[in-house]
Amino acid sequence: MKFQIFAALCLLVVCAECKYRPPELTYHQDSNHHGRHRENWVHRDEANEISTVRPRNNYRSDPPDHTKLIPMARYVLHNADWASVATISSLSAIQGFPFSNVKSVVDGSLANSTGIPYFYMAPADFTARDLTRNSRATVQVSLEETRYCENQKWDPEDPRCTRLMLSGKMKRLKEGTPEYTFAKAALFERHPAMATWPADHAWFVAKLKIAQIAMVDWFGGAKYIPVKEYLAYNYTGTEILDRANKLHTEVTYV
Ligand SMILES: *[C@@H]1O[C@H](CO)[C@@H](O)[C@H](O)[C@H]1NC(C)=O
Ligand SMILES: *[C@@H]1O[C@H](CO)[C@@H](O)[C@H](O)[C@H]1NC(C)=O
Repeated sequence: MKFQIFAALCLLVVCAECKYRPPELTYHQDSNHHGRHRENWVHRDEANEISTVRPRNNYRSDPPDHTKLIPMARYVLHNADWASVATISSLSAIQGFPFSNVKSVVDGSLANSTGIPYFYMAPADFTARDLTRNSRATVQVSLEETRYCENQKWDPEDPRCTRLMLSGKMKRLKEGTPEYTFAKAALFERHPAMATWPADHAWFVAKLKIAQIAMVDWFGGAKYIPVKEYLAYNYTGTEILDRANKLHTEVTYV
């Protein structure tokens, strides 16, 4: 009798595993072999097989010294995959209210950070609709997007968990310009799924023309960073590129 219960339990465990596996395999087969898909796949695999060996949260690399405000600001934006974008709502029930949306972001290619947030937008989206009436926006990113704060056991609102609020006017980039070509390629490099988004949505590339940079970075109140120095800073961090290359190598040889 005891053995039967034991056998039944084993079967349950095995079945639970059976249930879990197929979507994962499907996921892998469906992936289009770009960075982001690979990344998900590798993480899931690691989670299943060697979670006791590796840290659960594999953050990118340590951020710069918190007293170095410009390098920190550029690090947080360059390492962020998405931003919260706040606009003045044009929805009839909440006209003039603040409204916030999640947008995938890049500040340049993996290898070339510019400090300027670029977005891929469709006119029907909340954000794009608001921007046609009022181009003012605030773009917010957090160090927690790298999971660094969680690793340090810091709450996302802990002032040491750096957050960056970039405010300004959003501008649509003119198709065919060098900046458009650069920004679109950078968006597609970091967010390969964009290449599969429905072609009939009239996608365009937009950037924030930064008017103010506010940052919460460590204790002691808000920091305001001069825009000119921020943009002029030559950010040479390669953590995103290294990570993409590492994932590429891991997947190629597993
Ligand atoms: C990085 O991007 C800037 C802005 O588009 C461009 O002027 C510069 O040539 C690029 N540098 C490299 C190494 O790609
Ligand atoms: C930025 O720094 C790198 C590495 O030191 C250097 O090769 C590159 O020329 C610099 N770019 C600019 C625009 O100063």
